[in-house]
Amino acid sequence: MDSLDKEVDHGQQDKRTFNALESRDRILLIEDFEDTVRIIKRLLERNGYQVETAFTINEAKRLLETTILDAIILDINLPDGSGLDFLKDLRKIYPDTPVIMLTAYTELENAVRSLQEGVDDFIPKPFDNSYLIHSIAKAVEKRRLKERLRSSEKFRVLAEMAAGVAHDFNNLLHTMSTHIYLLMKKVHVDADSKGHIEALKTAIDDAAEIVKRLNTLGNPSHNDLQIIDLAALIKDTLLMTRPKWHHGPRRYGKEIELITRLDNDIYVKVNASEIREVFTNLIFNAVEAMPSGGQLILETVCRGGKVVCSIQDTGVGIAPELINRIFDPFFTTKGSGSGLGLSISYAIIEKHGGEMTVKSYPGKGTIFFISLPLVEELSN
Ligand SMILES: Nc1ncnc2c1ncn2[C@@H]1O[C@H](COP(=O)(O)OP(=O)(O)OP(=O)(O)O)[C@@H](O)[C@H]1O
Ligand SMILES: [Mg+2]
Repeated sequence: MDSLDKEVDHGQQDKRTFNALESRDRILLIEDFEDTVRIIKRLLERNGYQVETAFTINEAKRLLETTILDAIILDINLPDGSGLDFLKDLRKIYPDTPVIMLTAYTELENAVRSLQEGVDDFIPKPFDNSYLIHSIAKAVEKRRLKERLRSSEKFRVLAEMAAGVAHDFNNLLHTMSTHIYLLMKKVHVDADSKGHIEALKTAIDDAAEIVKRLNTLGNPSHNDLQIIDLAALIKDTLLMTRPKWHHGPRRYGKEIELITRLDNDIYVKVNASEIREVFTNLIFNAVEAMPSGGQLILETVCRGGKVVCSIQDTGVGIAPELINRIFDPFFTTKGSGSGLGLSISYAIIEKHGGEMTVKSYPGKGTIFFISLPLVEELSN
């Protein structure tokens, strides 16, 4: 058993004490009547949702600044203002977050107004439990579909642009290195100038590497598909990236604890080196988000013909206003980042017929989900 296997086992033993980040859909309930809050909260939690509550509009505003939500349930009458006016603000700032209004039967006029303001649904009080759950599930699903459509469309346009830029850059870099080569042959350069020329060559090589990555973005190669054991691939990647998540932080007195829950006998048909690149990018990002150390958690779960892998960290998290941009090529918040890791990973997973999504909790951590189709006759 090598040292990584020991660590993987150690992680599995830690399972009971490990406090996973929430990956459930998150609903904000804005309602001032305590009994209603208690009933709806319990109902939603029983149906697998995570619930945040706010008794006033101001409380809700504070929560919205730091929390990414999947849907909002809003009462019409609140102690510090009208839910209808707040709905208008919500629509301007968070046009995509579904809002469901709670209103009494007698307030038909309000219900009509809330529909005019673009509410997703309204639920008359006293409400019917199954209707409420149905309404929330529908709203969350609609939002997810819209998001997926928008991000794949945006991604296609950006990837095409990137491939065009990559093509032009490739020609320029080629011209530059040819001229350097000719210059080196013709002119006598002293040791000092040689150093400058070497630096120039290194910069050109780095630029060529970025161009190569950009090409992957436009068209990740899809030949070389093999049936592989996913747990083995993830363990290989963890071994290869060990200097990054283990030795690197240790050098600065920080500790990243690795926890894995990987099922055996899960088979996927993939280009192994591309999928390894995806895991490498996500592991690097996770480590970079934990400058003071933390936990890196990798898990696989099989669900309806797919395997869902999660890569989770307990790092700084992603601010709500940035989360829609992280898959864009060249988007980076790091001084030395190229901002290509996630966009390339997204492209690779899409080409494999999979999906990549993210949930983040500012100050607590981030969890990326990758789903891939299973080779069912071999898996489990
Ligand atoms: N696990 C994470 N925790 C917090 N922020 C993250 C995480 N993963 C990605 N991000 C954010 O998304 C941005 C884009 O990530 P991406 O991997 O595409 O580029 P990068 O890491 O900045 O550069 P590189 O091209 O070297 O990967 C990051 O700069 C960071 O702001
Ligand atoms: Mg990265």
